[in-house]
Amino acid sequence: MASSSPSVLVTRRLPSSVLGILRNACEVDVNGSTDELTPEALCERLPGKQGLLCMFNDPIDAGTLAVGDALKVISTVAVGYDNIDVVAATERGIVVTNTPNILTGATAELTWALILAVTRRVGEGDRIIRRDNWHGWTFDFLLGGELRGKQLGVVGAGRIGQAVAAVAPAFGMEAVFANRSGTAAKGQRVLSLDELLRTSDVVSLHVPLTDDTRYLIGRRTLPRMKRSAILINTSRGGVVDDEALAWALEERLIAGAGLDVYEGEPRVHPGFLDRENVCLTPHLGSATRETRTAMAELAARNVVEVLAGRPPLTPVT
Ligand code: GLV
Repeated sequence: MASSSPSVLVTRRLPSSVLGILRNACEVDVNGSTDELTPEALCERLPGKQGLLCMFNDPIDAGTLAVGDALKVISTVAVGYDNIDVVAATERGIVVTNTPNILTGATAELTWALILAVTRRVGEGDRIIRRDNWHGWTFDFLLGGELRGKQLGVVGAGRIGQAVAAVAPAFGMEAVFANRSGTAAKGQRVLSLDELLRTSDVVSLHVPLTDDTRYLIGRRTLPRMKRSAILINTSRGGVVDDEALAWALEERLIAGAGLDVYEGEPRVHPGFLDRENVCLTPHLGSATRETRTAMAELAARNVVEVLAGRPPLTPVT
C-alpha cells in the first residue's frame, strides 16, 4: 500500500474479511486483542489516523477527538452510538457512522429468548439440573406463566422494537407501543409510557441511550408496572436504573427481568446475581456469527467510502 494511503485505527481484532476491505484502500493499525484499548493506548495510536473503526464500548469523547487530529471518519460496529460525542465530532468535521438494520433480527431474537427464559424459568431449571437438585417430575414443579392472551409493551417503535412486536402474534400476544413521538406504524396501538407500564405483562425496552432516556425505567416508573409483569432490556445499560431495578425485584414490585445490558458493563449489579427470576446475558443482542461479521463489514465499508471522498453508507445523522 502506497504511503499516501489513509491510515485507520481498528480498536479490536476483527475477521480477515473485514480487515481485507480496509487493507484494500488504507493502511491499517489493528489492536490484535479482543480486549478494548485503554484510553491511554487509544490516545497514543490515534494521532495521524484518518479513520477510526471502534466498538460501542470505546469511549470516544471530546478528549479523544482532540487527540484524533487527522480524523475524518469514526465508524462504530454497533447501532448505538452513545459512546461517541457526535456533536464534538461533527464540529470537527468528522463523519460518524453506525451499523443499523443488520442487527435488528438478531437483537429481536435475543429479546424473545429472554422473554421465554424468564416466563418459563429456563435458567432456573437449567441450574437445578446442574446442581443435581432435580428429583423427578412433579405436577406443580417450576410452573411459569403463559404468554398467550398477554400484552407486550414495546418501549420505542424503531426497527428493533418493531421486529420484536412482529413476533408477538405468534405467541398470541398483543403488542402495544410507547414512543417519544407518540406514533407507530398504521394500525398499531400507541400508549403513554405510564399506560404501557400499567397495563403490560411484558415490558421490553428498545430505545437508544440519550439524555432523555437515561433512567427511563427507575424508582418512579417501576412501581407503575404490574406486580406480575416482567421487564426485558436489550437496549442499553443506563436506560434502566439498575439500583432501582434491584430494589423493585427485592420488593417484588415486578415478577422478574431479562437483562442483556447493564450500567457500567461488565459489572453487573449484585442485586441481580442471586435472583432466580432474573435471566442475565452478557450483552449478546447482535452476537450471531452472521450479524457480527456483517456489522463489521459495513463499518469497514463506511470508513472506505468516507476516506475516498464518497458519502457514507449509514451515517448516524
Ligand atoms: C450493540 O449494543 C449495538 O448498539 O449495536
